[in-house]
Amino acid sequence: MSAIIDVRHVNKAFGGLQVINDCSIQVEQGSITGLIGPNGAGKSTLFNIIAGALPLDSGQIVFDGEDITNQPANTLFHKGLLRTFQIAHEFSNMTALENLMMVPPRQAGENLFSTWFKPGLVRLEEAEVRRRALEVIDFVGLHHVRNELAGNLSGGQKKLLELGRTMMTDAKVVLLDEIAAGVNRTLLGDLVGNIERLNREMGYTFLVIEHDMDMIARLCDPVIVLAQGSVMVQGTIEEIQNNPEVIEAYFGSPAA
Ligand SMILES: Nc1ncnc2c1ncn2[C@@H]1O[C@H](COP(=O)(O)OP(=O)(O)O)[C@@H](O)[C@H]1O
Ligand SMILES: [Mg+2]
Repeated sequence: MSAIIDVRHVNKAFGGLQVINDCSIQVEQGSITGLIGPNGAGKSTLFNIIAGALPLDSGQIVFDGEDITNQPANTLFHKGLLRTFQIAHEFSNMTALENLMMVPPRQAGENLFSTWFKPGLVRLEEAEVRRRALEVIDFVGLHHVRNELAGNLSGGQKKLLELGRTMMTDAKVVLLDEIAAGVNRTLLGDLVGNIERLNREMGYTFLVIEHDMDMIARLCDPVIVLAQGSVMVQGTIEEIQNNPEVIEAYFGSPAA
């Protein structure tokens, strides 16, 4: 196995607060790697740095063998490194299916040049995008609500739609930041099943921040524990759960 994401000695401060502190992690190709840690540990900040949404102060991020340090999010998106986004306000008045069809890559219809010179091609590609969107909506189990406005979907259905949007591109690595929050158990089961299938059948690598430890236990190997902006320990979920340092960080006192 080799690391598809290699975070090397990254530092990031906000004002005087050192939030990411000489942090190094590796995400193996084909893994579903968990990232856990107490509130304020720097998990979301690290995600934002990896995804190109936040510049780092020092250090390096390597993706698939390429130095991507401080490359912007949309460049990384086209390279197959992406994180899910909440359905933006302006998309809530479009249907679930239309939301999938709006995902940017290779939409020739939005390219003025090809619209003028290759109208036939554009129609073909729009049909292709629609076909793909229908496949994706089946895959994530939202066929029955495909024509509902995205804004009217339940919290869990929105999460499934967000995951579906990553499938409209050719993603290699998907970063998931607390997608289980507020999702009911049934839809959470669907979400977990879909993540497993994307991993197994489509070769997606996932890096998952999650508070729900059942979800981490079911999905993730290895699990990385972040505390005060650096890696405290990494291992299987069993190793993590039995580690006295981790227990102390979460519960404030060593295990009895
Ligand atoms: N844009 C920001 N400006 C200032 N401080 C921030 C900013 N983003 C996060 N922080 C601070 O950085 C620390 C880590 O936050 P965060 O990465 O969100 O932690 P986690 O996701 O692990 O809960 C917190 O103390 C938080 O208040
Ligand atoms: Mg967070």
